[in-house]
Amino acid sequence: MGGGIAQVVAASGRRVSLHDEVAGAVDRALEAMQRSLDKLAEKGGADSADVLTRVTTVEGIVPADLMIEAVVEDVGVKQKLFRHADDVLPPEAILASNTSSIPIASLAAATKRPAKVIGMHFFNPVPVLQLVEVIRAEETSDETLTAIVELAKDLGKVPAEARDVPGFVSNRILMPFINEAVYVLEEGVAEPEAIDTIAKLGFAHPLGPLALADLIGLDTCVSIMEVLHEGLGDPKYAPCPLLREHVAAGRLGRKSGRGFYDYT
Ligand code: CAA
Repeated sequence: MGGGIAQVVAASGRRVSLHDEVAGAVDRALEAMQRSLDKLAEKGGADSADVLTRVTTVEGIVPADLMIEAVVEDVGVKQKLFRHADDVLPPEAILASNTSSIPIASLAAATKRPAKVIGMHFFNPVPVLQLVEVIRAEETSDETLTAIVELAKDLGKVPAEARDVPGFVSNRILMPFINEAVYVLEEGVAEPEAIDTIAKLGFAHPLGPLALADLIGLDTCVSIMEVLHEGLGDPKYAPCPLLREHVAAGRLGRKSGRGFYDYT
């Protein structure tokens, strides 16, 4: 998602520095950006070369007005990154997180600038989906909220505000839906194709819940369910065992070539 976010920010005319600790991740993001920009150019969008000139890959966090973090859905990893960003970025910089579920206050608490920490949650594929869920934590200032709402609009997105509770609005609804679909599969109620057909044709969803889980990543789905389970304390949010089994087996969805479906 970091690549998709970098793409839409660069397409708005801003300069972006892209960094990932994981070997090869930045190259994969640049390739995905190129493919996405080519699709958009076919439909009269901006020239891809022009957008990509504004994206620089960097070896670490470099000075900027805004950081948008999109690392793994792990509070410890995110807090470490926020602590480091707080040390190296100018004091006026806003630190935003693309977290799907982790309370923003727990990231703000890792910094000395909680008024400048906010949730800016994009949806995959970022260049196509219009929503940005904006999450204001207890100490987020009005100025930070306004800046991020205005930025989202300037990126051509529609911001919607949610309170800082685990899963916010989007994943409080979406993840239990996906998790229940996995229970339905585990219990042998229907085959994956039938489950997804029912959601696609019965509810007019563009993707069924299992195909969507593959798009999001099954490891991310488990992490989000764990945040809901621990944060809200209700056993109804426990991740389905089959979801955990697939993750343990390395079946992470599209990114690993196999999840509920085979992409190889
Ligand atoms: N960049 C640019 N354009 C893209 C694109 C990309 N990455 N991916 C698809 N498109 C374009 C295609 O070119 C196509 O354009 P036209 O209609 O003009 O031809 C259009 O989008 C539709 O694409 P496809 O025909 O290839 O396939 P599709 O109709 O199945 O649409 C989809 C693809 C937009 C991804 C659609 O399946 C969809 O909306 N899926 C649901 C995605 C979703 O629910 N995402 C949310 C995940 S949850 C999340 O991200 C957050 C979280 O916290 C977990």
